[in-house]
Amino acid sequence: MTDLSLPGLPGALPDKRQVAASFSRAAASYDSVAELQRAVGNALLEQLPGAFEPQRWLDLGSGTGYFSRALNRRFPQAAGVALDIAEGMLLHAREQGGAHHHVAGDAERLPLRDASVELIFTSLAVQWCGDFRAVLSEARRVLQPGGVLAFASLCVGTLHELRESWQAVDGLVHVNRFRRLEDYQRLCGESELKVLGLQARPHVLHYPDVRSLTHELKALGAHNLNPGRPAGLTGRARMQGLLQAYERFRQPQGLPATYQVVYGVLQKPPVEGE
Ligand SMILES: C[S@@+](CC[C@H](N)C(=O)[O-])C[C@H]1O[C@@H](n2cnc3c(N)ncnc32)[C@H](O)[C@@H]1O
Repeated sequence: MTDLSLPGLPGALPDKRQVAASFSRAAASYDSVAELQRAVGNALLEQLPGAFEPQRWLDLGSGTGYFSRALNRRFPQAAGVALDIAEGMLLHAREQGGAHHHVAGDAERLPLRDASVELIFTSLAVQWCGDFRAVLSEARRVLQPGGVLAFASLCVGTLHELRESWQAVDGLVHVNRFRRLEDYQRLCGESELKVLGLQARPHVLHYPDVRSLTHELKALGAHNLNPGRPAGLTGRARMQGLLQAYERFRQPQGLPATYQVVYGVLQKPPVEGE
């Protein structure tokens, strides 16, 4: 997850091979800890335009295929493609059905023909893409005129409790970086897609302790992959410092972890130039 609100920071991009390997390793554990991912994807499904009946959909960054199966149930007549950069995720998803085709690929360079789908659904995947402008431009290219891109992603403010707690301990980058909401707004506005809806909503999860949160991030494959992250194991004293620093956020329900989720629904104009 990369904050490209700071342009010209190529050294701060997570390596895509690392992202793919991390998610491939997480394929078996992912579904057991994906509470937030379920809530966000379901909220995104609810935002699809009402009378919309695509004949071909793409689940972009499909992971274990949970939402490919949901799309298949919602649009039983349609043909679906699940696409992910992590082959381990695709293998896992293929076994469980949902999509008709499983394709390895990158959201920034889709291996799909122009105007080949009517719906692109992408939940909690494009925060891993450094070049969101390229994601939008590829979406525009592969959508048919009138087609819809529905995305959910993360923006600045996500995991701020963990970030601030680490900051108090050693000032190093322990949490993935995120784009700002304003950057999503600007890039969507410049995309030649019509913005039907774009807003951010916080989702807050609670954990009994910090280790439950960090173990979950690892099981999801979503732990910190940024360059600049500290190498090796986390020392006992630093871990102790983290636990202490995080305690100041404690609420009656437990330790909060905030996710700032951006939901966007965009449409390719039915006629060029509209
Ligand atoms: C947090 S998971 C979400 C999976 C699924 N959409 C869900 O909501 O359960 C993110 C997925 O995005 C994939 N991903 C990350 N970067 C990608 C890229 N550049 N192109 C395609 N998929 C990518 C990861 O491999 C991973 O499977």
